[in-house]
Amino acid sequence: MDSTVLYQGKAKNVHSTENEQELRLEYLDQATALNGKKKDHIIGKGSLNNQITSLIFSYLTEKKIPHHWIKQLSSNEQLVKRVEIIPLEVVLRNIATGSFTKRLGVEEGTKLPFPIIEFYYKDDSLDDPFINEDHIEFLQLASKEEVIELKENALKINQLLQTLFEEIGVTLVDFKLEFGKDYEGQIILSDEITPDTCRLWDKETGESLDKDIYRKDLGEIVPIYEEILTRLKGRGA
Ligand code: TMP
Repeated sequence: MDSTVLYQGKAKNVHSTENEQELRLEYLDQATALNGKKKDHIIGKGSLNNQITSLIFSYLTEKKIPHHWIKQLSSNEQLVKRVEIIPLEVVLRNIATGSFTKRLGVEEGTKLPFPIIEFYYKDDSLDDPFINEDHIEFLQLASKEEVIELKENALKINQLLQTLFEEIGVTLVDFKLEFGKDYEGQIILSDEITPDTCRLWDKETGESLDKDIYRKDLGEIVPIYEEILTRLKGRGA
């Protein structure tokens, strides 16, 4: 397919298409952690994440969540709406783990009494720092009203994803979302929802079924991501 690479990311490349308002995302066989300091070529990962995120976005379509995903084009490519990405990582936590336990000294695995939302400033040169709503306003990353909208969206998506993962025997521990603005200025869910961007624990065994396997050098991620894909495909079967 003829196109220009507009942006080379850590896990995917963004290509232009013949349609000004649409982009082609190419999912790469690449895993990174520690803001790119740990990096590996992992055959099959791109295709698995493309398929997983495509299934999740089509579920969110059924649930009327506005998002950028249009369709899967091939094993490792998908067509999405062009958006202007809001440079924020919106993290939502249901269970304490990861940087939350380190930062606050909360015991690993504590079930949180309500979903906790955090914001990180998407800036690699600053290592994506944790920021608050005043910082967001000061840096003009989003308005106060938009921050409210981002939080409402994240909470709604959390409920829907919890239900989805519950059905396949998985606990949704935490996840990261990114949002963008479409050509009409509407805020829509963007980027990806995959085991790279969520923490997923098997309900029976408590085993990690996500990128923590890679982050913590616990083993191969391809069989784990295949397991998530197989369970999602078999949902309701
Ligand atoms: P954390 O506990 O490391 O802050 O991660 C919280 C959630 O956000 C976890 O599901 C992993 C996800 N995440 C990303 O998708 N990208 C990132 O760059 C980071 C730091 C976390």
